Amino acid sequence: MDNNQELTDLERLVLSRRRFIGTGALAGAALFLAGSPLGRSALANAISASPLLGFDNIAASTADTITLPPGYRFDVLISWGQPLHADSTPYRGDGSHNAKEQLGQFGENNDGMSFFPWPGDANRALMAINNEYCNYQYLLQHGKPPQSLEDVRKAQAAVGVTVIEVKRDAGGAWQFVQGSRYNRRVHANLPMEISGPARGHELMKTKADPSGIEVLGTFQNCSSGMTPWGTYLTCEENFTDCFGSTDAKLALSPALKRYSVNLEGASDNHWHQYDERFDISRHPNEVNRHGWITEIDPFDPDSKPIKRTALGRFKHENAALTETRDGRVVVYMGDDERGEFIYKFISRDRLDKSNPKANRHLLDHGDLYVAHLGGQALQPRGEGKWIKLSFGENGLTPEHGFSDHGDVLIRARAAGTHVGATRMDRPEWIAVSPKDGQVYCTLTNNVKRGNEDQPVDGANPRANNVYGQILRWREASDDAGAERFTWDLFVVAGNPVVHPGTPNAGSANVNADNMFNSPDGLGFDKDGRLWVLTDGNYGDSGDYAGMGNNQMLCADPVSGEMRRFLVGPRGCEITGLAFSPDQRTMFVGVQHPGEDGKSSFPDHRDGMRPRSSVVMIRRDDGGVIGA
Ligand code: FEO
Ligand code: CA
Ligand code: CA
Repeated sequence: MDNNQELTDLERLVLSRRRFIGTGALAGAALFLAGSPLGRSALANAISASPLLGFDNIAASTADTITLPPGYRFDVLISWGQPLHADSTPYRGDGSHNAKEQLGQFGENNDGMSFFPWPGDANRALMAINNEYCNYQYLLQHGKPPQSLEDVRKAQAAVGVTVIEVKRDAGGAWQFVQGSRYNRRVHANLPMEISGPARGHELMKTKADPSGIEVLGTFQNCSSGMTPWGTYLTCEENFTDCFGSTDAKLALSPALKRYSVNLEGASDNHWHQYDERFDISRHPNEVNRHGWITEIDPFDPDSKPIKRTALGRFKHENAALTETRDGRVVVYMGDDERGEFIYKFISRDRLDKSNPKANRHLLDHGDLYVAHLGGQALQPRGEGKWIKLSFGENGLTPEHGFSDHGDVLIRARAAGTHVGATRMDRPEWIAVSPKDGQVYCTLTNNVKRGNEDQPVDGANPRANNVYGQILRWREASDDAGAERFTWDLFVVAGNPVVHPGTPNAGSANVNADNMFNSPDGLGFDKDGRLWVLTDGNYGDSGDYAGMGNNQMLCADPVSGEMRRFLVGPRGCEITGLAFSPDQRTMFVGVQHPGEDGKSSFPDHRDGMRPRSSVVMIRRDDGGVIGA
């Protein structure tokens, strides 16, 4: 197996994949031939008998609908603009609702979500669903970026999190319950508590909050996590997109630059032009009060959300929770920007399983770590270690510009750089296997990889990485509390038709029938199936020819086989994943359909604007999804 001088770089990548080689002699032989028709068909024969995957791979599609394997169907649970309360304004379909009306309706661009079973009632549940950002072409009637404070207020009313109640009808279908007292919008102007080490910190104080203990709102809520004590963790990702400066000559501090704040505002939000809270020339510390993980209790609609600063401030993607051997809580987190890091938080105290309320402040005390992945370029496996980000340790001292622990957490990226963390290809979702505790992380793409400051390495093996890969690690002694781990690459996405025989063909578990780009969402079901959701280029041409619209695949983590399970409508990203406890309903998010102006999903009648929606996938025979 070492005599692989003639192999392409990626074939070498593939060869060193222990799991694949472990699938047997035939698969091992096939791997040598990856890229040739013989290699691919032999591989298919070797691994097609996955006992986990009970459906056939479906074709790529560019249709303006959801495509599923035979025997599966979808229904819409809820869409942007759906009235939440008994007296909420009905959806009008033309973007004409004002900010006050939007506050009573389901938010825009749903993303990560969790399903909270109702204690003692299998037919009742709550769902917490992120509303990440706004598509102004549809949110606002004029279809342009905000032109007034009223427009900004509507945007602020449409983002954050929506909590809804759902109930299961006699036919087994889950339905949204309009008028439930649990339905709630957690938006960008709702007061929230700041807790943990950065509470009251000098950098958290503003004119409106001179004590640095209360902040208005959460926004740019990408994905999420669910705690064992029944609360929701919403992750603030591209928060800097909402900030800008009315002083075009303002000098940006290194701290602002490190988080990619820019004077114009990083997108089409323009909030800073109409709402001075978002103008960094007037309120320089407001931006420090965002970029956190915020905890929400969905079962208490009057509760105040809490920003948990012990988990660090960066562009949070999701929060994957597990436990150490000795019962402390571990939260894995990715920072989604090119070249940013992977983090792990370990709580100081143990989880109290007999008393959920005792865990309420577990996330305020503990240690934050950042990942360093060893290994050489083109060696897709290696050892890694977790480096503690704690004031006074590992050089995080006043001599190096860190004033206290709150400062380390507020500027977690700078702390990570100081301790030598590994720059990754945009860490997106992280998921922990319920079967063996191995941890998977999507690295979605990184067109800056290969530049001087981001050279290719083992885990980020391709320059100008347009396709992405999924990293996997196993903690030492299978203890999530370990400081060492080993890692490999589970899949390297690519296009074997456009780029045969090169690293951009992807690893051997990618073929002409299942190819995809930009893995983003990621989650396990209880049986250990690994679901992969994409947020990539849906142009279906060039590097992406034959991949179609964004989609969802399902992988067998042991054999490595991946099958395409769902294709979304035009212009959308597939993001957000939850299951009913019986796994007979899968909830999937369709975000920004028609971003390219070419969709009318889900209501295809003339003149209807496309709407981000949560859809439910079920089997015609009522069986377990994917089985
Ligand atoms: Fe909101 Fe990194 O995705
Ligand atoms: Ca994402
Ligand atoms: Ca993404």
